[in-house]
Amino acid sequence: MTIKNSNKGRIRRQFIILISFLVLLLIIFYLLFSYGAFESDYEDIEDKEKIDPLAADYETYYLDNSPENKQIKYGFELFTNTAKYLGPSNGKEEMIYSGNNLACNNCHLNAGTKPYSGMLIGVIKRFPQFRGRENKIGTIEDRINGCMERSMNGKELPPNGKEMKAFVAYMNWLSRHAPEDGKVEGMGYARIEIPDRAVDLEKGEKLFLKKCASCHGQDGQGIPLKYNPGYLYPPLWGEDTYNNGAGMTRVITAAEFIKTNMPYGASFNDPELTDEESYDLAGYINQKERPVKSNPEFDFPDLKKKPVSTPYPPYADPFPVSQHQLGPFQPIMDYYQKEYGITKIK
Ligand code: HEC
Ligand code: HEC
Repeated sequence: MTIKNSNKGRIRRQFIILISFLVLLLIIFYLLFSYGAFESDYEDIEDKEKIDPLAADYETYYLDNSPENKQIKYGFELFTNTAKYLGPSNGKEEMIYSGNNLACNNCHLNAGTKPYSGMLIGVIKRFPQFRGRENKIGTIEDRINGCMERSMNGKELPPNGKEMKAFVAYMNWLSRHAPEDGKVEGMGYARIEIPDRAVDLEKGEKLFLKKCASCHGQDGQGIPLKYNPGYLYPPLWGEDTYNNGAGMTRVITAAEFIKTNMPYGASFNDPELTDEESYDLAGYINQKERPVKSNPEFDFPDLKKKPVSTPYPPYADPFPVSQHQLGPFQPIMDYYQKEYGITKIK
């Protein structure tokens, strides 16, 4: 009996020790897991690379309110409701930086995430960058101010101010899955085949009335928002739009934008217009009156780098201003090839 009893006791003790050991093991594993000991950095990096920058989530709404996220959200706000914060009638004299009531979002669609509409996914990693317009290396802040002075017909934002920092934070966040060189399919615009003829303004007008006027108005003045400064459908010419120094006043650039983005809903994979139609429309819109950029003669210190459809002189070639505005562009491009050995694509 005593032998049996002590056997039982030993087995029970061993059992308890085994259980305690297992529990201890579990606790150790749990702690190791919660401190991330089993996640290798290698996997982390791989994961980041695997996320397709075009398929990632760019909805700021779901970000929590950490200080960094607040900055990103403010950048998004400024981008989509620009006139409310920076426009001529925002209500705060010292905050008027835009000269018109456009929003960045009017040209960089879906808050800068739509392919081939000057898409900004990856943009932070594409800067600093050489710019022909200034003939020097420019920063992302310089580039944003380029759109402030031209597309927004306004003035530069202070590079260290709250608003510039918010724009940069938002673009940084949009670039988080982009490769090192910032090159993402859908950046910039999609090339069109430039017709080997001048713009046909009559065709442009007809197309405008048929395909564009329903939203932008027969007079091209768009429809303002009801309760805030800004537009439901932005104007395409007149006082309250981009000035003649903006990228959108170049017929080739505007045609590329229009082809893959307009009428609203068109896209790279599902365009509505032909290259020829986009070209005539771009020429028609850009022949209309719009604000004039001050000191345009200081743009492009090296005139050979000026895009051929820049609508204002001087030029490093003998072609008339009208041909730079309406084409045909092929003879101008051929000239740069022959005289300077420069291949022009825009
Ligand atoms: C009227 C249309 C228009 C508006 C409005 C506009 N932009 Fe742009 N933006 C352009 C065009 C066109 C380009 C490309 C120009 C070129 O190819 O030279 C561009 C280029 C850029 C780039 C560089 C993109 C790249 O891939 O290198 C940034 C950054 C940018 N814009 C930011 C802004 C911000 C911020 C705002 C608002 C404050 C704004 N833009 C408003 C038309 C516009
Ligand atoms: C269904 C309405 C609709 C139609 C039709 C339409 N657009 Fe637009 N367009 C818009 C909207 C909306 C925007 C601004 C995009 C945004 O804010 O999301 C815009 C922006 C633009 C812009 C850049 C912003 C600016 O102020 O210049 C141009 C250029 C443009 N449209 C040209 C055209 C042309 C050319 C046509 C005809 C082929 C056309 N649109 C047809 C709704 C329309």
